[in-house]
Amino acid sequence: MLAHQISRRILQSSWTRAGAAWLFSMIGLAGSCCPVHADERQVQRGKYLVGIVGCGDCHTPGHFFGKPDLSRALSGSEVGFEVPQLGVFYGSNLTPDKETGLGNWSVAEIVAAFTRGITPDNRELSPAMPWRGFSAMTAADANSIAEYLKTLKPIKNAVPGPFGPTEKPTSFVMKIVPPSN
Ligand code: HEC
Repeated sequence: MLAHQISRRILQSSWTRAGAAWLFSMIGLAGSCCPVHADERQVQRGKYLVGIVGCGDCHTPGHFFGKPDLSRALSGSEVGFEVPQLGVFYGSNLTPDKETGLGNWSVAEIVAAFTRGITPDNRELSPAMPWRGFSAMTAADANSIAEYLKTLKPIKNAVPGPFGPTEKPTSFVMKIVPPSN
């Protein structure tokens, strides 16, 4: 008898089917019991949201030169936005580096920054960072993003600034230029 015929016979036995049903139900239980799985789902959701929202556009080096350095994704931009009368602001390092990134920020502090524009030292983020739009995000989605950022590899990269309206920026600047006639 050929091997596949034997295995078909075995599968046709109702005892084996009952056994398989039991086994799958146990796998199902194992899948729903463990918070580890829930966290992983949350982190994957955060990764997905960061990708489609495009946080990396303003927070990844090289992006505005058309060559994002994905080996240092989300570790901060060398190109700042000039906001008239306010100054020049650089997309900061969102990796968990303790000195130059978000390593010392709690999930709640990260969420407060990108959904309410408030940093732990009580500075209001400039409109260069679209936090007013992000304030419409559900708490679950905002938490997923912060949890995902916490899983990134810490990368040391101190972004320049922020620079006040009279200060001289030390790196590249995107600015609004009046039309020429
Ligand atoms: C259009 C560009 C842009 C996009 C898109 C953007 N950011 Fe930002 N972000 C900035 C800039 C510029 C700053 C610095 C603002 C300032 O210093 O006032 C900033 C600051 C922050 C800060 C404060 C960090 C610190 O060290 O002060 C956090 C947190 C942050 N962004 C998270 C995010 C997340 C998460 C996303 C995506 C959901 C995102 N940003 C999308 C431009 C952007």
